[in-house]
Amino acid sequence: MTCHVLVGGFFGDEGKGKIISYLAIKDNASICVRAGVGTNAGHTVEYKGKTYKLRQISSGFVQEKAKILIGPGVLVNPDILKKEIEETGVGNRIKIDGQCAIIEAKHIEEDRGSSFLKEKIGSTGSGCGPCNVERVMRRAKLAKDIANLSQYITDVPLEVNTAIDEGKHVLVEGTQGTFLSLYHGTYPFVTSKDTTASQACADVGVGPTKVDEVFVVFKSYTTRVGAGPLTEELSEEEAKKRGWFETATVTGRKRRAAPFNFELAKRAVMLNGATQAALTKLDVIYPECAGARSIEDLSREALSFVRKIEETIKIPVSLIGTGPNTMDIIDLREA
Ligand code: IMP
Ligand code: MG
Repeated sequence: MTCHVLVGGFFGDEGKGKIISYLAIKDNASICVRAGVGTNAGHTVEYKGKTYKLRQISSGFVQEKAKILIGPGVLVNPDILKKEIEETGVGNRIKIDGQCAIIEAKHIEEDRGSSFLKEKIGSTGSGCGPCNVERVMRRAKLAKDIANLSQYITDVPLEVNTAIDEGKHVLVEGTQGTFLSLYHGTYPFVTSKDTTASQACADVGVGPTKVDEVFVVFKSYTTRVGAGPLTEELSEEEAKKRGWFETATVTGRKRRAAPFNFELAKRAVMLNGATQAALTKLDVIYPECAGARSIEDLSREALSFVRKIEETIKIPVSLIGTGPNTMDIIDLREA
């Protein structure tokens, strides 16, 4: 085991936080490094009786032996970073790259004040889009220029590649989902950067030849916050009836819901070069599977749903989430 990359396969909110937290613990990660856009993400981790909603630092922080890093491609909001460092207690093992661009108040104001971004696209209002614009214009401030961050600055690509060369295990955490990608998603209803595995590698400075496994995470149904197409979208009433109604981690907005999209899943596997899939919230569709930790505990219906996904996407579903806790998982990797 050396370097594993994890990305979302739909429109974000697939349960990446839970899967990353499990993998970090189970695979003894030495480094958990956040890739992705920035604080527009909201990854939820439920571990040892506590719930964390993380926008900036890796959900792999639950692995107490791991260094927690943020790659240079990721936008950093120093206030949110500070808050999450306090919440998670990772102050002595977190570092960020000096080249992370900094989200400033003006970016947040612009994001929230723009009727195009806020209303037409339905952005998260976290300032990521406007900050990425400034970065492209080469006017954005970088983390290395911010005095308050000096204690946290490191060369993340060097740390990550050194660890890989030493045979240590590195977990790269992508954010959002494949179809929110600026290139591969449902433009213009997308985020401000690519979100596929290749981008996650670039975000942290890992070349494609160093990656051993790419995990793509799918939820057992699809959800989407903000505008843009959602095939077979359910009414809110129907989503509530099925127990698929959710609200967003970052913005509190309602998530629109639809059934699992097999065609999109297949395409997500292609776009990410995924080698394994993780399927989350199987217990929401099949309540009899709640808390299952072995494949034998799945009902016939649940198992046939998993098999149908595998037949479509042509890679194994190797992790199955059966509850909100980090350890509520069926791990088929060794089987
Ligand atoms: P932005 O990334 O804030 O500019 O938002 C652009 C679009 O991506 C909007 O539809 C957001 O709701 C969506 N989006 C961005 N980040 C996430 C995420 O982490 N989960 C789900 N949707 C997201
Ligand atoms: Mg989320």
